[in-house]
Parts: sequence; structure tokens; C-alpha cells
Amino acid sequence: MASKALINLLLLLLAVTGGRSDLYFHYENRCSYTVWLAASPSIGDADPERNPETLEIFSMPDDWTGSIWARTNCANNASFYFSCETGDCGSGTIDCQSPPPTYPVTLLNFDIKQSVVSYEVSLNHGHNLPVRIQPVGGSLVDGGGSCPVVDCVADISNVCPSNLVAKNKNGQYVGCYSACDQLKDPKYCCTGDFSGPGACQPNEYSQRFKQLCKLAHTYPADSDPPVYRCSGATGYNVTFCPS
Ligand SMILES: *[C@@H]1O[C@H](CO)[C@@H](O)[C@H](O)[C@H]1NC(C)=O
Ligand SMILES: *[C@@H]1O[C@H](CO)[C@@H](O)[C@H](O)[C@H]1NC(C)=O
Repeated sequence: MASKALINLLLLLLAVTGGRSDLYFHYENRCSYTVWLAASPSIGDADPERNPETLEIFSMPDDWTGSIWARTNCANNASFYFSCETGDCGSGTIDCQSPPPTYPVTLLNFDIKQSVVSYEVSLNHGHNLPVRIQPVGGSLVDGGGSCPVVDCVADISNVCPSNLVAKNKNGQYVGCYSACDQLKDPKYCCTGDFSGPGACQPNEYSQRFKQLCKLAHTYPADSDPPVYRCSGATGYNVTFCPS
């Protein structure tokens, strides 16, 4: 696989905003299709298009809290307005500027404070493609031990209830909405009466996600597994469509 991979090495020596860390994220696209990386807030990735079987090594800001995701099926229309079937940023250009993305989208959430990094895979805004986060080295801040993988690798389309299915304009499945985003019920969103400690419980929709993706967070109060805090990892491998 490595021999086929096009290694795209981006070493940003000068920071655009804030300092760059020694923390390198390896973004590998193992999907059979191109994805367009996106991050909010921006990580300064000027060339977010990732072809299949490519690896990008990217130095992350040393103080950054945000989400990373992959956009799918992006294209310019006849008036050069850039948009994507999932994860679209709404900017009309390949550069996201200030998203939130359109849902559904599988989110990789990170909180980087120098060498201590919290990380999770979240299905709180649905699912558009399989992902994995693999810390490279490091140990858990709470309790020690190595920093575990988190991922959601399974094909969610198999368990996506029909009322949560997202389709493109040709009627093809492109992702699965979260119950909160699609049904807007406080019970699923953990808001209002459901916002207090213990008030928000897994629901029939989140349980379907959980069945296939035990290491991902499937509703807003999901704390199983906890959000891992990892210290001293040299990097994080982020894989889209890990097999
Ligand atoms: C391209 O997309 C934009 C945004 O949806 C729309 O305003 C514009 O009319 C589209 N252009 C064409 C030629 O379809
Ligand atoms: C992380 O990715 C790099 C580049 O693909 C690879 O060489 C390395 O073995 C990976 N490390 C882990 C822990 O998966």
C-alpha cells in the first residue's frame, strides 16, 4: 500500500495563526473515492483534496480545539460554486472559511494543549464515512496505559433507520443523520429537561450506532468510552475508510 501511496509532505514552518507544534497528524485516505479534508477552526490546509491511497503529514497548531471531517463528492458547478454532498462548508470555495459543516458528518474532535490531546470520534451529527484515530505513542493522562484507538469503521448504512437516511439529489444514500439533528427532540439532543446529569440516556437511534461503533460517541451525553486524554504522543494517525 505504501508503494502506491502518493506521499504529500506539508511542513508548515511558519504559523498562520498561533504556533505550530511538533505534533504531526497523518491523514490517510483509504476510501475508494477522493475526500476533501475540512476543519473548524481552520488548520491552514491550503490543499484539502485527498485522492484515494494518499497520505498527508500535517503539523497541527499546538493549541487548538475543534473538529476535523471529510467532505465527499465535491465539485464546482457551472458558475464555479464549490459544494459537497456531505460535510459541505457552505463557503462556495474549496476553502471552508468559517463552517459548521452541513450534516450528516462523522466528526473527529480534538482538544490540543501542547502535548496533551483529547480526542474522540463523534456521531452526534450523524455519519458520512468510516474513520479511525490512532495515537502514535503517548500515555493516558488519567490512569496511564497506552492511548487507545477510537473509530467507527462499520457500514452505518446497514443500520440507518429510514427516517434518518440522507440522500443526494439522485436519491442515493450519502449518510445517516443523528436523531437530534433530524428529529429535533430534546430527548435526543440532551437539552431542556434532558440536560441535567444523568437525564440524557441512550436512545433507540444512538443504540443502533453503538451496536456497530462501540468506540464512538453516539449521543450528546455519551461518555462510554470516556474522551481519552493522551500525553506525549508524537502524532495521530487519522484514517478515512480504514479496512
Ligand atoms: C451554482 O450553485 C450556486 C449555489 O447553490 C447557485 O447559486 C448557482 O446558481 C449555481 N450555478 C449554476 C450554473 O447552476
Ligand atoms: C501511523 O502512520 C504512519 C504512516 O502511515 C505509519 O508508518 C505508522 O506505523 C502509523 N502508526 C501507528 C501507531 O499506527
